[in-house]
Amino acid sequence: MRTRRLGQNGPDLTVIGLGTWAIGGSWEYGWGAQDDRDSLEAIFEAMDCGINWIDTAPIYGCGHSEEVVGKALKQMQKKPLIATKCGLLWNEKREKIHCLDRESIFRECEASLRRLGIETIDLYQLHWPVPDAQLEDAWEAMCKLAEQGKVRQVGICNGSVELLERISSIRPPASLQNPYSMVERGIEDSLLDYCGQQQIGVLAYSPMYKGLLTGKFSHAYMQQLPADDHRKRFDRHFQEPQFSRYVKRADRLQEIAAEHNRPAAQLAIAWVLRRETVTSAIVGARRTGQITETAGASEWILDAEIMESIDRAWDSV
Ligand SMILES: NC(=O)c1ccc[n+]([C@@H]2O[C@H](COP(=O)([O-])OP(=O)(O)OC[C@H]3O[C@@H](n4cnc5c(N)ncnc54)[C@H](OP(=O)(O)O)[C@@H]3O)[C@@H](O)[C@H]2O)c1
Repeated sequence: MRTRRLGQNGPDLTVIGLGTWAIGGSWEYGWGAQDDRDSLEAIFEAMDCGINWIDTAPIYGCGHSEEVVGKALKQMQKKPLIATKCGLLWNEKREKIHCLDRESIFRECEASLRRLGIETIDLYQLHWPVPDAQLEDAWEAMCKLAEQGKVRQVGICNGSVELLERISSIRPPASLQNPYSMVERGIEDSLLDYCGQQQIGVLAYSPMYKGLLTGKFSHAYMQQLPADDHRKRFDRHFQEPQFSRYVKRADRLQEIAAEHNRPAAQLAIAWVLRRETVTSAIVGARRTGQITETAGASEWILDAEIMESIDRAWDSV
């Protein structure tokens, strides 16, 4: 699989990374029940597809995603690079709590290393920069962890240009992990250019918008999702009036992709990767078959003609 260098100093990441939010199972922002055997198979399958890095976070299933990734790592000879995060804790109801206290970040790092069963985290990312007043404290703590060799690179998620400038004066971040898909295009305004200029790696999350752009969503599909799938409960893009519009758009994307004998999921991911500044798209998978279907996007270069068809299809709905 193609690779791109992360930021100034690497490592080289495959243009698709495996996202493990959904495999965390149940918590406030879970995706319904998840069988660990399916998760492990999905992780091994991603490695077989040539993917060389995994993105996880302590909050995904209140430690469970990291544990499952750790279990998979134990069974692998050639280990992928591991990116995880800090800054989100949870309460006894498995609801998220923002916390950027310095000591808490040190504790979180130790807990992640333990759950993952590794000695060093390749990329340690601040999950949400909240509360804002503690941003610099948290970043300094993460830089300390890098000095101690507990983490190799430090990055940030859900950031803005202003926030990147604030932390860069302490230590330039290796990466920015933000949402990027046809549904959420915010980073095109200024962040992509800024990261390109500053040589900050860009990790694009939810490239298929949580499955919405794969063409499988319909009102009937939505109905049968479990009540504790956060897409049903909290996400406005899965609610009306937006939802019907996205379903129609995804249908059009499916038609375009079919003309090239490809699934719509690949079109959605290839669209994200067309921007050279994007280092890698983080693609979620929770059962066998999914990542094999999506991984082919890494080799699909979209030409001007197909880009025009996508724009026309998107704007026509
Ligand atoms: N830093 C942050 O704040 C942040 C936020 C969001 C995500 N992320 C990271 O980015 C990763 C990817 O984002 P994401 O999981 O939200 O969205 P995504 O990659 O756009 O969508 C993943 C979901 O789509 C469905 N899917 C996967 N392959 C499919 C296929 N071939 N055909 C049909 N459906 C398929 C699966 O869910 P179903 O089968 O249940 O539909 C899967 O969980 C996350 O796992 C996480 O690591 C980070």
